[in-house]
Amino acid sequence: MNTKGRVALITGSAGGIGKAIAVKLSQHGAKVIINDVQQEKIDETVAIIREAGGDVIGIKSDITNKTEVQEMFAQIIESYGKFDILVNNVGISRDALIVKMEEEDWDKVLNTNLKSYFLCTQEATKHFIQQEYGRIINISSRAWLGGFGQANYSAAKGGVVSLTRTCAIELAKYNVTANCIAPGLIDTPLFRSFRQDSQERLLKIQPINRIGQPEEVANAAVFFASDDSGYVTGQILHVCGGKSLGARW
Ligand SMILES: NC(=O)c1ccc[n+]([C@@H]2O[C@H](COP(=O)([O-])OP(=O)(O)OC[C@H]3O[C@@H](n4cnc5c(N)ncnc54)[C@H](O)[C@@H]3O)[C@@H](O)[C@H]2O)c1
Repeated sequence: MNTKGRVALITGSAGGIGKAIAVKLSQHGAKVIINDVQQEKIDETVAIIREAGGDVIGIKSDITNKTEVQEMFAQIIESYGKFDILVNNVGISRDALIVKMEEEDWDKVLNTNLKSYFLCTQEATKHFIQQEYGRIINISSRAWLGGFGQANYSAAKGGVVSLTRTCAIELAKYNVTANCIAPGLIDTPLFRSFRQDSQERLLKIQPINRIGQPEEVANAAVFFASDDSGYVTGQILHVCGGKSLGARW
């Protein structure tokens, strides 16, 4: 998969799936930007990639804030002079049953998991249109199909799918593709923050009866980010061990 010389931003990439995507894109020759709100973890991830010979910078930025997003893109252009690949990866969860869900938790999840994707896509698209090349990879979730106690999270992830499909239609004429990855249960701090009994219950009904690794999501991201996927746009790839098909009995 060829991403050599491409400049790629991965949002929320100081840890978890985003970090795995950044590492793998760097291994495939891309110059990568690590964005997160946690400076110490940004520095750790930047050091790992740099030590392996990668070209990388870290930018601390809260990407729910439009001004911070604009400043981040200005810094990317100042550092690399161009921009080619956007991986919208950032995501949080604040689960609760619909009857008990606080308005604040609805807003927080929708702002982080959907609005930030819009803000980054809008900035990225300005560069993509100008250079007539771009790749957008949006990290949704298997939960876009619905999830118990996840009204805010599922709605945001469904919104990510619709945003992806619309970008694919609007931007195709500029040689820009937009695709979605919908992971299932992946071994990251986000999944490990669930109660132990919930983790076990969720894993028990997986058709492929194990937790997924961040690198398995990263493999799909590299394909969508590469020059080789130029005729694929508006698609959703479930990397979920079969969870999108139904439960294992
Ligand atoms: N882990 C799973 O099982 C799973 C399953 C399906 C989908 N996903 C999705 O994959 C993506 C990555 O999830 P993960 O499990 O690696 O999560 P994670 O919590 O390990 O990493 C998310 C990162 O985003 C950062 N972040 C949070 N708010 C931010 C903001 N406003 N600006 C910048 N950075 C911010 C966090 O500091 C964290 O480092 C998310 O979109 C998540 O919804 C994860």
